[in-house]
Amino acid sequence: MAIRSKLVAGNWKMHGGTVQNRSLLTAILAETEGLNGTDVAVCVPYPYLPQAQSLLQGTHLSWGAQNLSQHEKGAYTGEVSAAMLVDFSCRYVIVGHSERRALYGEDSHTVALKFKAAQAAGLMPILCIGETLDQREAGITEHIVAEQLDAVTKLMGVNALVKSVLAYEPVWAIGTGKTATPDQAQEVHAFIRSRIAAYSPEVATGLKILYGGSVKANNAAELFARPDIDGGLIGGASLIADEFIAICCAAK
Ligand code: G3P
Repeated sequence: MAIRSKLVAGNWKMHGGTVQNRSLLTAILAETEGLNGTDVAVCVPYPYLPQAQSLLQGTHLSWGAQNLSQHEKGAYTGEVSAAMLVDFSCRYVIVGHSERRALYGEDSHTVALKFKAAQAAGLMPILCIGETLDQREAGITEHIVAEQLDAVTKLMGVNALVKSVLAYEPVWAIGTGKTATPDQAQEVHAFIRSRIAAYSPEVATGLKILYGGSVKANNAAELFARPDIDGGLIGGASLIADEFIAICCAAK
């Protein structure tokens, strides 16, 4: 019996449309009804939060956003606050995705502030951490994920992780089709969990750590079977109903 239930969350990134969203979400709802013990969520672009709320309210599917401002409110043109996400009944919000770190200059302290803002509003942050190919080849994977994790625990304390989810996403596996092997992923997940356990065994035991990076229907089961892999954060495959449904079914 697994210690932790599984979570499969779709990260739609900058994809979607009102007509295709309805078709995709209707199919996922229909085919993931009976996955007792596995939580399923979709993190959609901001404009589709009302549609997600309308279609998913009262169902077994949760929804969320892919980012938020670290600020509560104010003159931050184009930004979206935690309170605004709560207005659309979001449960989750992704923070620190590698694309935001690389393309929008989010450093680990900024990510920690976003984590704090999310929790202050009652949202569940999905904290993304992971190394680039150069960092892996340089042998500093553990140093990198530790720095990204420690920025949050230094700001918030390790107990703040209780109401969060972690996602280990090796940057070199995102969108490339080069999925980490189950051994590679398990090794880093175990390192992350052991680092947290050094401060609090209880927090470490209860914390979901998802794997993200080219998860597909044909590799999900082997990844999710590893002891420290508690599900997946799914990009491209979350936009294809059959693929995402199969990945969710592999998590039970
Ligand atoms: O957040 C999940 C995402 O980064 C993974 O993308 O397309 O490799 O599943 P993909």
